[in-house]
Amino acid sequence: MYSNKNLTKVRVWDLPTRLFHWTLVLVVVGLAVSGVVGGDAMVWHFRLGYTAASLLLFRIIWGLVGGRWSRFGAFIYAPQSLLNYLKGKGKPEHSVGHSPVGAGSVFAMLALLLAQICTGLISDDEIAASGPLTRFVSNSTVSLASHYHADIGKWLLLALVLLHIAAIVFYQWRKHNLIHAMLHGDKELVVAVPGSRDDALSRTGAALVFGVCAAFVAWIASLAV
Ligand code: HEM
Ligand code: HEM
Repeated sequence: MYSNKNLTKVRVWDLPTRLFHWTLVLVVVGLAVSGVVGGDAMVWHFRLGYTAASLLLFRIIWGLVGGRWSRFGAFIYAPQSLLNYLKGKGKPEHSVGHSPVGAGSVFAMLALLLAQICTGLISDDEIAASGPLTRFVSNSTVSLASHYHADIGKWLLLALVLLHIAAIVFYQWRKHNLIHAMLHGDKELVVAVPGSRDDALSRTGAALVFGVCAAFVAWIASLAV
């Protein structure tokens, strides 16, 4: 952290959070394409689905133990903070990590992704593609999950992602470059706040956490008949 013309450079998004975000973007696009193409592309749908599951599990744990501004506690706001922010009376700290509005969309996206992944694990297209956990649940649960996964969840997720991108473009137009921080990690701020820890040790810790998440997901995948 250092000062320059009254602005302070703060590490907001640690490397693990940035890698999580941009890998998730690629994986979700790949999932949408492979899901719609179907047929042989479903092999990739499953591979990417397991990658998305590992990423999401990682992000949930990183939300508890990760860098200061990536922790869920840093962007759980009281309703009053959201109202103040919407009235233009937000505190300067609201522009460090996710703002009260941004936080809402982040939690909604994570929840929808989780729902998409969980239903994917128990979905069946009644042709060839069947999630690895379908045999553990009843036929009616499989149909409900497949219906949500293929007909509802994908549209909800698409709508939220489009809204997310529109919001980022809107901020960009209002001269708030949020993309730069998601790429490089730092923001130049008027408030001097502690940055997120992002050293070799925390990055190694993140890699280990991701490894454990991926191993757990690989075990789930191995339950397929
Ligand atoms: C499939 C597409 C996408 C998904 C699923 C997605 C998902 C997410 C999620 C979950 C977060 C929260 C990050 C965290 O705290 O871990 C986030 C934040 C962010 N995303 Fe995306 N994203 C997508 C596409 C994009 C694109 C195309 C851009 C750039 C144009 C973008 C720019 C950002 C930025 C700048 C933030 C930080 C917002 C803030 O400062 O509050 N995202 N995104
Ligand atoms: C964010 C994660 C995911 C997204 C965005 C996604 C998206 C999609 C889409 C767009 C389809 C095609 C729906 C259609 O027929 O129009 C689909 C089908 C399917 N997906 Fe996923 N998927 C995700 C995760 C998963 C996971 C983790 C699995 C399992 C490991 C999975 C298994 C399936 C199966 C079995 C189908 C066929 C279901 C059916 O047609 O009834 N998906 N998915």
